[in-house]
Amino acid sequence: MLIDKHHRVHDYLRISLTDSCNFRCSYCMPDEDTPCLPQSHLMSENEIIQIAKVFVSLGVTKIRLTGGEPMVRKGFASILKELAKLPVELTMTSNGVLIDKYLADLKTSGMKSVNISLDTLDKDSFFTLTKRNQFDKVWENINLLLEHNFRVKINVVAIKGKVEKELLDFIQITKKLPLHVRFIEFMPFDGNRWDSSQVVTAQQMLQTVMEEYDIVKLRDEPHATAKKFKAVGHEGTFAFITTMSEHFCGSCNRMRLTADGKMKNCLFGSDEMDLLGELRKGNELLPLIIASIRSKHKVMGGQFSEGYQNTSTTSLQNRSMIKIGG
Ligand code: GTP
Ligand code: 5AD
Ligand code: SF4
Repeated sequence: MLIDKHHRVHDYLRISLTDSCNFRCSYCMPDEDTPCLPQSHLMSENEIIQIAKVFVSLGVTKIRLTGGEPMVRKGFASILKELAKLPVELTMTSNGVLIDKYLADLKTSGMKSVNISLDTLDKDSFFTLTKRNQFDKVWENINLLLEHNFRVKINVVAIKGKVEKELLDFIQITKKLPLHVRFIEFMPFDGNRWDSSQVVTAQQMLQTVMEEYDIVKLRDEPHATAKKFKAVGHEGTFAFITTMSEHFCGSCNRMRLTADGKMKNCLFGSDEMDLLGELRKGNELLPLIIASIRSKHKVMGGQFSEGYQNTSTTSLQNRSMIKIGG
């Protein structure tokens, strides 16, 4: 088992399959022309499986596929098929555009839940945000997932000036549909023009929701990132991911593998362990993974020491979101 110095058991691995994406969201990508990694720097399909197997041997029971957009990765279906052979819960975070194309593969893999990033329910705002005219496609695909009995969470990044207008519309869609909407406090990453004044806290959002709806607090899963609620009488739920106002590092069970094969022991940590490089040299990965976990910081990768209000993207040492995978 992978246990760090703060007694946290790490059994959840997030694998980024690619740093490319078919959308262009500015909070994720520093600029539209950000070059993607050359193919030779990416883990091959075989390397992904080899590295994943070492993590599984160390007690990983859940693997989430991320990107960029995981489904734009060449050989996605084949990677999915191989990972599905491992004794893990397999899941994915996606922008949703290619769900129909890979629906059969997702079902065959045994995947039960998918998280879809969707920040707006308005077509024009969707275009402004993503630079792509794909709102209808994403919405169709969300419904397709529901028809096929997937558990669907919707990730909404809460950016001041944007989220307020649609907060209640997102709650309203949970009335008839069994969707789980999660509002994520806006987080700083390299180049994403984050500023602490753009953070809308969970408390502020909750206040707005409570003015319109009767709500109940639901029980949160043990290592959940989100604090979950339900509007009375609604099919779905809503939740807040409170990274900035109230971190949840105490129950962290997560590790990350970037598309170029670097292990990150924390979303905000600047330390990276070059697993791919070592694998290519023929070295054993197991001790390196253990060492990375041993050196994990207690809270937020050892950054944000003065709270988020005094933080800026320039003082943080990290990658951009698209190069981490969330
Ligand atoms: P579930 O496994 O369904 O709970 O999903 P998740 O929340 O782990 O994953 P998802 O990819 O949907 O991420 C939703 C948001 O939570 C994103 O903004 C992530 O960056 C953030 N998030 C995911 N993992 C962590 C984490 O370990 N720490 C922090 N602070 N935020 C995280
Ligand atoms: N702050 C908060 N969440 C973010 N995501 C991407 N960038 C940010 C950010 N700066 C979310 C996306 C995606 C998930 C992996 O991370 O919405 O669903
Ligand atoms: Fe874990 Fe780091 Fe996220 Fe905290 S910020 S929950 S330590 S990954």
